[in-house]
Amino acid sequence: MRGEGRTRAYSEEALSEIRARTDIVEVVSGYVQLKQSGNTYKGLCPFHTEKTPSFTVSREKQLFYCFGCGAGGDVFSFVMKIENMGFRDAARMLAERAGVALVEDESPQAKAVREKRRRLYDCMETACRYYQSVFANSKEAQRARSYVKQRGLSEDTVKRFRLGYAPNAWDSTLLALQSKGFSHEELVSAGLIISSKSGKGYYDRFRGRVMFPITDVSGKVIGFGGRVLDGSEPKYLNSPETQLFLKGRTVYGLAVAKDSIRRKSKAVIVEGYTDAIMCHQFGFTNVVATLGTALTKEQAETVSRYASEVIIAYDADSAGEAATLRGMDILQQVGASVKVAVLPVGEDPDSILRKHGREAWAKVLEDAKPLIDYKLYLIVSRTDIFKLDERVRAAKEAARVLAGVESDIERMEYAEKAARMLNVSYDAMLGDINRLAKRSTSRRARSQGREAQDRFEVRRYTSFKDDIAKSNEVSRVLKAERLLLRLMAENKRVFEMAREKLNLDELSDERHIALARAIQASQDVHNESAGSGSSASERIMELIDDREALEYAAGILIGEEQKLPDDLTKAADDCIKVILKYKLAVRIRQIEKELASLSDTGEMQKSRELLQELGYLKKRISEELEPFRGTI
Ligand code: UTP
Ligand code: MN
Repeated sequence: MRGEGRTRAYSEEALSEIRARTDIVEVVSGYVQLKQSGNTYKGLCPFHTEKTPSFTVSREKQLFYCFGCGAGGDVFSFVMKIENMGFRDAARMLAERAGVALVEDESPQAKAVREKRRRLYDCMETACRYYQSVFANSKEAQRARSYVKQRGLSEDTVKRFRLGYAPNAWDSTLLALQSKGFSHEELVSAGLIISSKSGKGYYDRFRGRVMFPITDVSGKVIGFGGRVLDGSEPKYLNSPETQLFLKGRTVYGLAVAKDSIRRKSKAVIVEGYTDAIMCHQFGFTNVVATLGTALTKEQAETVSRYASEVIIAYDADSAGEAATLRGMDILQQVGASVKVAVLPVGEDPDSILRKHGREAWAKVLEDAKPLIDYKLYLIVSRTDIFKLDERVRAAKEAARVLAGVESDIERMEYAEKAARMLNVSYDAMLGDINRLAKRSTSRRARSQGREAQDRFEVRRYTSFKDDIAKSNEVSRVLKAERLLLRLMAENKRVFEMAREKLNLDELSDERHIALARAIQASQDVHNESAGSGSSASERIMELIDDREALEYAAGILIGEEQKLPDDLTKAADDCIKVILKYKLAVRIRQIEKELASLSDTGEMQKSRELLQELGYLKKRISEELEPFRGTI
């Protein structure tokens, strides 16, 4: 999903050439105002909204990292993120800037495929311009122009969203695009013409419709929605899926909305083309639309890449409700915080804005409810409060919803709210919820899938995860590991020391292990070719393939406390002790648990072994680690 990894389609030489000739500080300065501060540069993060700068760029390390939002990486990552490009495009852009010739290692087939796609993009763009010019100039389009005007869309909006008109004829588009050099075959695969059933001829797909171009995030046209001017069916005809147009991945309006979404850290998703467009016209520029279908996981991921908060504002019919609930669950799964705007029955965003204006719509968004509130609201709104059996049924339904709330405090708050709304006893409500919650936690503990999502997943110690997570222990250990990794990257002696005392493959986070391995590998490379000119952290970063691991590593290598401790070895030793002690403590807990579960009979031997190990571990802690009063 995030970043496409480092597709190594360019030669390593070319990439290091780019790196050597590029200064991350200069590149970033093109987008962010940076101020020097000691060894590093600081500025306001372009990836989230902030008032005090936590976005940090290191010239020496050629890395950036934002201590506010966690965005980070090398110069390639930066360009990919800010321009929303894949690695290849970012490399191409930086190569151009640095004057490096990029030879693509591309097979003839791969080249042919790419060329075909390029032609398809060309074809869609040409069609878009054609529809725009028909809309603007042709006599026939007078009806379309008055329709658009009567719907209240301004000239500016028409331009910004590139609205057009497809003539009401069988071959206008066909002829127009043919004259620009596109073949029948190309026009069919672009979804613009259809081959007739008899197989002899072709005809235009879109006839007599107002055309809404659909673009990808970079603004390239990949499809169209065409609306009828009268009441005929279908109201909207859309492009078929093509090589460029994958409906499940496309979000309408994102190219126009993305900067605003990023700035506000908030996106609004509506149902219809005209809803999104009207929102923009009224100054709500962070609005996008799904294409009349339920929100897909890919769409949710795409949107949540720009903002952590998403408001769903679907029509208030029952189809809209169902779609909303599904959409919310999907958005939550991809980690966005979701709210629902409740629209008056029979209205959509477009009609609210036109009838009641800016303020009314702003209020609807402001009143958007968090997921749980929305679910409760739906339950209550479907309940006849004056009937006891209805209330009991609703209370049970509410309990099921609230059992999924993780935090105890929140669960109690909601229980109180639900009890009040349904006029049932709070104690009974909470009792039901907790009973259901217990059942679902034990079910959850058994399922592995969830653990993997845990941000600070502590490997292999999952059975103790609950006790551990409660203490500060984990965050302390993770912090120690991070500092140790930074020290290891800085100093070869520290690296040797850490490798000697710890098993680096048993660090508590996959990303720590990946970084430790890269540090190790970079040492090996360095030993072979002494002094290649690049800094240690540059070499390390080159060895990490995964963009997400890279992002995380940048944060470690830059380091939140800018200044390194004076005595590196002492600091490293402290870290190592924290980590070791934790590992021993985990093992001790494991043993104690095992001992408790052994039956008194028959397993004497096993018990004795465990007790022996326990004694040894406790001794080690008190002798080697206890006197230590670390600073971490
Ligand atoms: P709506 O029927 O709510 O349309 O469908 P709307 O956007 O309010 O349209 P107007 O205001 O009457 O012009 C919502 C979305 O569902 C898709 C379109 O993307 C539309 O914007 N849709 C709807 C279709 O693809 N085909 C249809 O026939 C109808
Ligand atoms: Mn509408």
